[in-house]
Amino acid sequence: MIQKISREFFFERVYHDTESFMSSIQNNDLYVIKNYFSQTFIDEFFGVLKKFRESTPPSWHPCLDGCPDYHRINDEYPKSYVKAKMHSYYFHRWNALKDIFEPFKELFEVKNFLGGLPKNSFYNSIPSEGVISRILSHQYPKGGGYLNEHADPVNPFSKIQTLIMATTYGKDYKKGGLFIHETGKKELTMLDHFGDAGDIFILSPHVSHGVAPVDSDEPLNWESTAGRWMITPMIIRSDYNQDPNTKPREL
Ligand SMILES: [Fe+2]
Repeated sequence: MIQKISREFFFERVYHDTESFMSSIQNNDLYVIKNYFSQTFIDEFFGVLKKFRESTPPSWHPCLDGCPDYHRINDEYPKSYVKAKMHSYYFHRWNALKDIFEPFKELFEVKNFLGGLPKNSFYNSIPSEGVISRILSHQYPKGGGYLNEHADPVNPFSKIQTLIMATTYGKDYKKGGLFIHETGKKELTMLDHFGDAGDIFILSPHVSHGVAPVDSDEPLNWESTAGRWMITPMIIRSDYNQDPNTKPREL
């Protein structure tokens, strides 16, 4: 079941109707929070990414103490947990751009609250403490950007996924995008037409999901920012932990 809700109603459900909200998530219900962020905010966020991209060459770094903010082109890199074609940006609280976390703070608090943890848990932690907060942004470029079907680990601090749409289906791209694959169903359920830039998809990390190739009939150009964009505030285990059961799993 897919339900469109307001930002106010989302917080109401989380904080005042917690059990029924969580059982609905565990039953694989999916929520779209409408207009959580404004287009102005998204444009400002893209401005930060643009500056960052222009001043920093692509690279990759394990999540260990001192890990810089970085961006990385993953063109079906064989060692990825989940096969993908995307350009991703990673930001951490211990680096210079820490203020970009502020607008996402309430979402980090919700994740902690739903795990029965103090609301500021892991917000300022560093990798050697085991669990950290990260802001991740993905560009699935036109010309076939995708992410294979997978499930993510459910941890106390990640009982819901908060997938922020930063582009709009039908306007910024015409084909592909986020899907879920419900158990027992043959066909995928495509989701992007339920939301617009600024909306947030809320779902259980256990639901099998992925991103179907974006505008695969167009040429791929890694220099271009065209395509489908997401922003995801995440609480994750650092790479001091190498337990494969706590990493995303391709299906
Ligand atoms: Fe995922």
